Amino acid sequence: MSDFTVATMSSSLSESADSASMPPTEQPPLTPADRGPCAYPLVGKVAVVTAASRGIGRAVARRLAADGAAVVVNWHTSATAAREVVAGIADAGGRAVAVRADLGDRGGPEALFTAAEETFGGVDILVNNAGITAVAPTADLDEDTFDRLFAVNVRGTFLALRLAARRLRDGGRIVNISTGYTLATYPNVGVYAGTKAAVEQMARSLSRELGPRRITVNTVLPGLVDTDGLSADVRANLDAFVAATPLGRIGEARDIADVVAFLAGDDARWVTGQAIVAAGGLV
Ligand SMILES: NC(=O)c1ccc[n+]([C@@H]2O[C@H](COP(=O)([O-])OP(=O)(O)OC[C@H]3O[C@@H](n4cnc5c(N)ncnc54)[C@H](OP(=O)(O)O)[C@@H]3O)[C@@H](O)[C@H]2O)c1
Repeated sequence: MSDFTVATMSSSLSESADSASMPPTEQPPLTPADRGPCAYPLVGKVAVVTAASRGIGRAVARRLAADGAAVVVNWHTSATAAREVVAGIADAGGRAVAVRADLGDRGGPEALFTAAEETFGGVDILVNNAGITAVAPTADLDEDTFDRLFAVNVRGTFLALRLAARRLRDGGRIVNISTGYTLATYPNVGVYAGTKAAVEQMARSLSRELGPRRITVNTVLPGLVDTDGLSADVRANLDAFVAATPLGRIGEARDIADVVAFLAGDDARWVTGQAIVAAGGLV
């Protein structure tokens, strides 16, 4: 993650601590107890969330677990963070297991599916969130960075999608995380945006293949989200991005997690093959 140079997200793992740092207009996330009789729409489901130790993936894992799913929390280098995600889910009454896998390795996705099947009995939901970025002029981008971007973002996603096509239970859900950069024209992100465009196209095609099994395949395109993954360049120009965003702020990880939860649930049973932008109107 060489270009992920600015760390601003709180390392605190309690929802209440996250809430304390929110702007005053933001409401804290609903807890299952707040939601009433439909508190656990994903009860009985098993979710694999890639890159779930931090950032968007962490918020997705927490949200799906709060909705009742048992969750495989994938981590690569942040063992402590992953353990804390799992502990937080368990403390809230949910079920989760942390599994180390490098999505840039050919065996990475297989380890996650196997862990889900051995621990929870199968897989119903796959969230392909793992993705790395590189911000550099094309003139300066080296082949090793190009290869790593494609290994994690494209091959890793492909291998996870192939496993899902083979092993997801009927009626399952696949949600991929792309980026609004595929719809916009910004300098210095061409290869990164290219990897995500590949993800979007793989997802569209797969939605046709898996429709007969009632498995939906969709992709979420976030705008800027306040995670460790925000590049230093973007961070330096944050005011301009906020000014250009109709909803007047940049995204939080849970803004994306809530969209993923919708797509993962029964409410989205008639939505497939779509790319859904969640960017506060920026894109
Ligand atoms: N943040 C944004 O503004 C933004 C906007 C649009 C799209 N996205 C996309 O959203 C996704 C998540 O981004 P983020 O901002 O949440 O990232 P982040 O905060 O930097 O989090 C990175 C996460 O990715 C994991 N990871 C990195 N390389 C991995 C690998 N090879 N195998 C498995 N896990 C790996 C990390 O695990 P460890 O810490 O355990 O190594 C960590 O959990 C990415 O696909 C990104 O392209 C982000």
